[in-house]
Order: sequence, then C-alpha cells, then structure tokens
Amino acid sequence: MRNFELKVKKQWNEVYVNDNFTKKPQRNLPQIANFFKLNNISRILDLGCGSGRNIVYLAKEGFEMYGLDISSEGVHKTKLWLKKEGVNASLKVRSMYGKLPYQKNYFDAIMCIRTLNHGTIQDIRKAISEIKRILKPNGFIYLTVVKGITKSLQKDYTFIDSRTYVPLGGREKGVIHYLFNKNILEKEFKDFKIIKLSTNKSLKNKDEYYVLFGKLNHKPNLNSRTNNNKYNS
Ligand SMILES: C[S@@+](CC[C@H](N)C(=O)[O-])C[C@H]1O[C@@H](n2cnc3c(N)ncnc32)[C@H](O)[C@@H]1O
Repeated sequence: MRNFELKVKKQWNEVYVNDNFTKKPQRNLPQIANFFKLNNISRILDLGCGSGRNIVYLAKEGFEMYGLDISSEGVHKTKLWLKKEGVNASLKVRSMYGKLPYQKNYFDAIMCIRTLNHGTIQDIRKAISEIKRILKPNGFIYLTVVKGITKSLQKDYTFIDSRTYVPLGGREKGVIHYLFNKNILEKEFKDFKIIKLSTNKSLKNKDEYYVLFGKLNHKPNLNSRTNNNKYNS
C-alpha cells in the first residue's frame, strides 16, 4: 500500500474505532433500492463500504451484497453489524485503487458513496476502469463525491497537482483529495449513460456533494493490463 493509502487507512480506522460516523443509510437509499428491485438488480458491490450503514440496509432488503474498504476497522464493524441483524455480505479489506478482487461482468450495480475522491486522477481512472470491468453490461453505478473543499475539516491545505490537494493539519492531514466538477464527472464516466447528475447538500454539515447515477451502456475496450487481470476469467 502506498503512503497516502496508509494515511487514509489510519485516518478512517480512527474514525470507526471511535464510532464517529453516521449509522443512518444514505438519504435516498430506499428509493434507490426500489429502483434496483424494479430493474431486477440482485448483486451489488458497495465500494468503500465504511462501517456498513448502506450494506446492512440493502442486505436486509434482500440484495446479495459485497463490500470493500481500505479500513479494517470499518469492515470489522460492518461484519458485527451484519451478524447482529442476521444478514450476510461478502467483505474485503483492500484499496480500491488496485485490481479489484472480482471477476469481470460480476455485478448488477456498484455503489461508491463519498469514497472515489481520495486519490489522484490517475488512481481514480484506474478505479473507474476496474468498475467497468466488473460491472455487467447495462449495470448501474451510483456514486457521490464531495463538491469542493470541506472547510470545517480542512483549514490549511496545499495543492500537489491540478485539482488535487492535501490538508496540512487536522484529521485528514496528508490524505489526497481530488476535486471533481460536473464536466469531469461526465468525461470520466463517458462510457455510462448518465441518468442523473446533480448536486445535493448534506443535512448535517451542509457540505455539498455530487450525485451521479448511470448505466454502463456498452463494454468499452479495456486496456491490456486490465485484460491480463487474474480476476478476469
Ligand atoms: C466518507 S467515508 C464513506 C463510507 C461509506 N461509503 C458510507 O457512505 O458510509 C469514506 C470511506 O472511503 C474509504 N476509503 C478511502 N480510500 C479508500 C481506498 N483507496 N480504497 C477503499 N476504500 C477507501 C474509507 O475507509 C471510508 O470508509
């Protein structure tokens, strides 16, 4: 794992050990679950599942759930919570910026809530390429990313590349953040039919974030590195 990934892992482990993250599912998850049911979606990956608030909800709704997160503490909390609720999910501790440990065309839908922006644009592109590999053709993506710099958490920061900054203090010190905008989201998700791309506001701290809901409309040509992936068959 690279330096910034170790930092992000440590930071989120601390958050989850201290039980410092919301337990309520993503605000519009009931509507998304209904949409998934109407569209015969069954197998869903929560990429960056955290301490499980969305996995637990969807597992209880009867979906076949998978989760991956860099935080071992988050995944541990998710496991305990699933057990308590008497439901199952397949969980992995891993960075999403490497090969994802799933076969191609495996998932009906992938969710990625407030997670994809913790890397450089090169890392993010690698993750999107992996998302396209493991999603079925016509599979769905539901993604949210923070819009702008979270001023409450990040007072001092420095830009290390275009649209890429690192906080110099506080809880997220040293953690890479990439700043998306609508045009960049459209460009990076050009292989998806965009069903919805909007901004929303967090009820708690009023932070704004982008919501992207899309459908993979064809299988793009994947590069040779990804085609040699041992999980490809
Ligand atoms: C804001 S939290 C959101 C968690 C969850 N999606 C939710 O909505 O409750 C961001 C999550 O991204 C995870 N994360 C950050 N970088 C990651 C990476 N490279 N690979 C996998 N997970 C990562 C963190 O551990 C954390 O759980």
